Amino acid sequence: MQARSRLDTDEKGTPVQPTALGVDLESMCVRLKRLDFLPTEPQVARKLISISESNNLAPEELAKVAELEPAFAIRLFREGAHSESAPESLENLVTAVQVTKVPNVLSLMKAHATRTLRRDAYVFRHFSLTEYWRHSVAVAMGSKVLALLTNKVDPEIAYLAGLLHDVGYLVHASQIPAAHEEIFFAARSNREEYGVEEHRRLGWTHAESGAMLCREWCMPAPVVSAAANHHMPEFDNEHYEVSSIVALADRMAHETGFANASTAPPAATALLLNQLKLAPAQVGAISQVMVNHVLRAQSILDVHQ
Ligand SMILES: [Fe+2]
Ligand SMILES: [Fe+2]
Repeated sequence: MQARSRLDTDEKGTPVQPTALGVDLESMCVRLKRLDFLPTEPQVARKLISISESNNLAPEELAKVAELEPAFAIRLFREGAHSESAPESLENLVTAVQVTKVPNVLSLMKAHATRTLRRDAYVFRHFSLTEYWRHSVAVAMGSKVLALLTNKVDPEIAYLAGLLHDVGYLVHASQIPAAHEEIFFAARSNREEYGVEEHRRLGWTHAESGAMLCREWCMPAPVVSAAANHHMPEFDNEHYEVSSIVALADRMAHETGFANASTAPPAATALLLNQLKLAPAQVGAISQVMVNHVLRAQSILDVHQ
């Protein structure tokens, strides 16, 4: 893993000198090797506990729940990839449930959700787990629709890549919460894009830590790549299609109102639409699909605020 970010200068071309927030990317890499948990949105966690007490759930039904919750989805993938009957490469959540076995997934769900609710440490002042959750679910569905329209990427992989594109936020929120809050507050106050503020203060961004975690937790290569490159898909030489789709869905989610930070990421909507051969008139319909999906997810998981 490259320890250097591609954002080596600020918007005026001045070399960036990260301030000392006490953690460099190599240290984070070491932490991630020991990490086995990321926090879930509290309302979602409460619903997961009640779902975990259900009987007779099919693997497909459990996968449908997991695909609405980024922290649990990636945890399930990790579990599936380490199970005895795991295929050489795990590609989707249904297979992750099947190889982990439904009773084990239900136990994992309960333990995961309980752990989130037990810790005061996952209560934040500036960062909102609820906004993060809505944004992730919106980008997931936007990515899937764009994959279906462009026919260049497996829609399920695109969904997973969208769901986990900002998983680095959860890494920062749980591993360096004080720095995360400081960066989040500064980005909001300065009306600055979160990634720029991160790079200014840490010297690296959630794209890098998120991609490291996705790799560590055995996510498919296009998902890792989209986490790494969703702010600058033009740098992705291996999985440009999925990274550009996620970048566009990310931008659309911000413009639809599912914002995860003070300002939208830098990927240009018009340029990406053009590259993906999509008409600007399609944006409204895709936004509406995102809204419907978030509303449906809120209803299924009892998210009211
Ligand atoms: Fe991002
Ligand atoms: Fe995002």
